[in-house]
Amino acid sequence: MAPLKILFVTPEVEPFVKVGGLADMAGALPPALAALGHDVRLVCPAYGSLRRGADWEARAEPLGVEVGAETHWARTWQTVLPGGAVPAYFIEHDGFFGRTEVYSGPWGAHADNDLRFIFFSRAALTLCAQLDWIPDVIHCHDWTTGFVPVLLNTTLRDTPLGRAATVFTIHNLEHQGYADRRAVEFARVPASEFRPDSVESVGAVNLMKAGLYHATKLTTVSPTYAREIRTPAGGWGLDGVLNFRGADLVGILNGIDTTAWNPGADRHLLAGYTARDLAGKAACKTALQTRLGLARDPHIAVFGVVSRFAAQKGLDLLAEALPHVLDRMHVQFALLGSGDPGLEQIFRWAAGHYPGRVGVSVGFDNSLAHLIQAGSDFFVMPSRAEPCGLTQMYAMRYGTPPVARATGGLIDTIGQFDEATSRGTGFLFNDATAPALYNTIGWACATYYDRPAALLALRRNGMARDFSWQPSAEKYLEVYRWAVAARSTAPAV
Ligand code: ADP
Ligand code: GLC
Repeated sequence: MAPLKILFVTPEVEPFVKVGGLADMAGALPPALAALGHDVRLVCPAYGSLRRGADWEARAEPLGVEVGAETHWARTWQTVLPGGAVPAYFIEHDGFFGRTEVYSGPWGAHADNDLRFIFFSRAALTLCAQLDWIPDVIHCHDWTTGFVPVLLNTTLRDTPLGRAATVFTIHNLEHQGYADRRAVEFARVPASEFRPDSVESVGAVNLMKAGLYHATKLTTVSPTYAREIRTPAGGWGLDGVLNFRGADLVGILNGIDTTAWNPGADRHLLAGYTARDLAGKAACKTALQTRLGLARDPHIAVFGVVSRFAAQKGLDLLAEALPHVLDRMHVQFALLGSGDPGLEQIFRWAAGHYPGRVGVSVGFDNSLAHLIQAGSDFFVMPSRAEPCGLTQMYAMRYGTPPVARATGGLIDTIGQFDEATSRGTGFLFNDATAPALYNTIGWACATYYDRPAALLALRRNGMARDFSWQPSAEKYLEVYRWAVAARSTAPAV
């Protein structure tokens, strides 16, 4: 079959700007698709905090982006994603993207996020025209890119770009991007689109919903999450739209970057290890204990956390369970994350109150994230909702069985430990409550101290799993072809 031209329009991409797992996906899937022979390119905003390389080049031609009543001028920087096969373009505009934060600062979400990301969506499409490169498929990611499919179905439908199919991936339905009606005018989309079966939701513009209505095909990042979001409990108010589009929605599990996350060759670790020889893992444990001020004890069970501190991640359950666990179990905790100030404060308190047993680093630190995955015995992930989750996959690959809530992608990636057969890759619990988490940490702890052979099998089971992007990249290709076929027969909206 003929190779496809695929454009990723994304608000984050590793290794240039990352808030969460969306960046990992945007950095890893395009090279996997390019390796299958496709012409893949990517476009992302040039935030003030972007990590730029010395080899970046500014395109000579300025980019005139038509939004609102005027043309805004942007500069386009060009580089390639690691691996060299995927050109990446970054849109620079000081007014919209000069600030360092991607979505929100200490005061909350930026008040002009609608304008920023509609500008970005139009800029991405204007760039295609400028490059004279018309994609077969435009792959959009979350609410920030919701107006790309809208523009292609309306204002740009009769231009050469209008034939491009769109695939819209939901990474997290919780964040939808509500905006004032001004967003429609700013996008230069007909005012008549401000209606419930297009971009409107309860009197406001909803950028996520706009994408869900208008994209040719929809995906989300795990099969279980694809089912959960079609229910009132998991739909965040959009289950109706998702059921309406249900025939066009599929769940495809994320892969992980198995080169960056490889316990056998990880530049962040002093000692590497494999499933056959875990000696290096013990060395990483000592390094982790030293790094976070934990007592250097090779025999104690260490539980690690690397996470955004947000309600979605259920870390309030850990905060509630923590004193009970520490008072009754022989364990240490190694925590890394930031977000909710209340949780940051509780975990800092725990570190002060249980010296040598709780180590906390508040912030974003990729190197420490690797060390926690490698040096911990278990990885704690009590998510209330988890569209896919990458950290549990990293944990399994590093021989660190997850203790996780059975939700979304955690169900699809973690096999429940079976004591009788030593099958499985982790410990799952159902209820989003502190006692359920407490009991499951207790189960992991008992396995650690009483059943070392079973624990070794569990570690090895996880390390043997294939979490590479290859199978998922092939599934995305099927969706792209499905979208291209549907677009070629779709009437103009
Ligand atoms: P989400 O995208 O919901 O935050 P994921 O599990 O999909 O959850 O991805 C989180 C990504 O962000 C992982 O690559 C994880 O290692 C990384 N990460 C999260 N918090 C931190 C942190 N404080 N420091 C470094 N990396 C982090
Ligand atoms: C979101 C989700 C997370 C998922 C990531 C990448 O941030 O919260 O579960 O792994 O996107 O798709």
